[in-house]
Amino acid sequence: MNQAISGFSKLSKIEKIKWIASTYFANADAAESLLRSYWNSDEKLQQLHDDFIENTITNFYLPMGIAPNFVINGRTYSVPMVIEESSVVAAASKAAKFWASRGGFATEVIDTEKIGQVHFLFEGDTTKLIRFVSDIQQKFRENSAFLTQNMEKRGGGIRTIELRDKTAEIPHYFQLHATFETADSMGANFINSCLEQFAKTLIGEAETWLDFNEKERDIKVVMSILSNYVPDCIVRAEVSCLIEDLAEKNIPDPRAFAEKFVLATEIAHAETFRAVTHNKGIMNGIDAVVLATGNDFRAIEAAVHAYAARDGKYRSLSRAAIRDGKLYFWLEVPLALGTVGGLTSLHPLVKFALELLGKPSAQELMQIVAAAGLAQNFAALRSLTTTGIQEGHMKMHLNNILNQYNATDEEREKVRRHFKKHAISHAAAVSYIEELRK
Ligand code: MEV
Repeated sequence: MNQAISGFSKLSKIEKIKWIASTYFANADAAESLLRSYWNSDEKLQQLHDDFIENTITNFYLPMGIAPNFVINGRTYSVPMVIEESSVVAAASKAAKFWASRGGFATEVIDTEKIGQVHFLFEGDTTKLIRFVSDIQQKFRENSAFLTQNMEKRGGGIRTIELRDKTAEIPHYFQLHATFETADSMGANFINSCLEQFAKTLIGEAETWLDFNEKERDIKVVMSILSNYVPDCIVRAEVSCLIEDLAEKNIPDPRAFAEKFVLATEIAHAETFRAVTHNKGIMNGIDAVVLATGNDFRAIEAAVHAYAARDGKYRSLSRAAIRDGKLYFWLEVPLALGTVGGLTSLHPLVKFALELLGKPSAQELMQIVAAAGLAQNFAALRSLTTTGIQEGHMKMHLNNILNQYNATDEEREKVRRHFKKHAISHAAAVSYIEELRK
């Protein structure tokens, strides 16, 4: 079967669906009606979603849940989370409640610097290039004033534009390494527009720079693009309490718990295989809020993992320590987030999520997201070092299995009662339901 097509993007939505259904599906009608069943009946709303991306054929649902009781710097939030994995929202809620009665989360934005680079080739005398870039600093700013004016009104703009010599890595390779402040926007468009303008200034000024010879005038720009690595756009979240205050149902011996908990974080700091899973747990919380608030989770993921490996070895993002009879548990992560621009004013549920959070500034959102990451990490480590992760996980999984089997209320009750006394596994749950139905 020839499955290639040219001009797919030019087809109407219905034509696209018909082509997909008839080319790839044994039952084309069923495939088409499945896609249609996920359309929104409100045509305007559907059109809005169709226009977010290209070649849209339907919507792909993810559930949005709420983790209430997040006390962050004394203020209580109900945090929206969009995620497909069961247990995550329950874990965040449980951890938030646990810490709400122990002082809550203390968070702080350490810096909000964004970065972008113009990558270019220059052949000639490096000292002349250094002088040139220093002499045209004002030109970079003047020529991009039409882009920066609005951002400056909002408290943002260009911070620095610095020449970096990268010729040790690649012959003739230099960068303009620029730093920015982007206020409440994530800033990707602003930064990329500024960088492309810097590139034009760089080339234009070099062409007429008297100090340069012909070869030196011929600066070749390779690309201009923001960096998603933002090691100076950092937020810190911390929880702490007296060790005896950690006591609760699954923590009968708080000191032993605190010591084991700290050891678990040390293992994740020292050991990459564990660090990746440890950080994955943190990202369960971070990504879910990032998605709910319409931010770019790929950018966040890329930045966070690069940061986790900043000393050359991939390590945990969170640390814990016992000092003066207290357990301290904290996290530092780079989070380039926005609460204006992008999807924030377009996607109705993103607008809802932001209003639910009290229309936060980007800095406030950074703190909420970091707290969600720390809460998630706390919940995972608490389970891992006490009951084990499967107990809670399988309870949630049981629900998925019941849904898969379209279980009736009566069946659900019987299944729940049975698995209160018996260990839950996928096979055990399936065979118990099938037994019930015989
Ligand atoms: C599962 O999604 C996340 C955990 O594996 C995280 C961890 O091990 O710390 C539970």
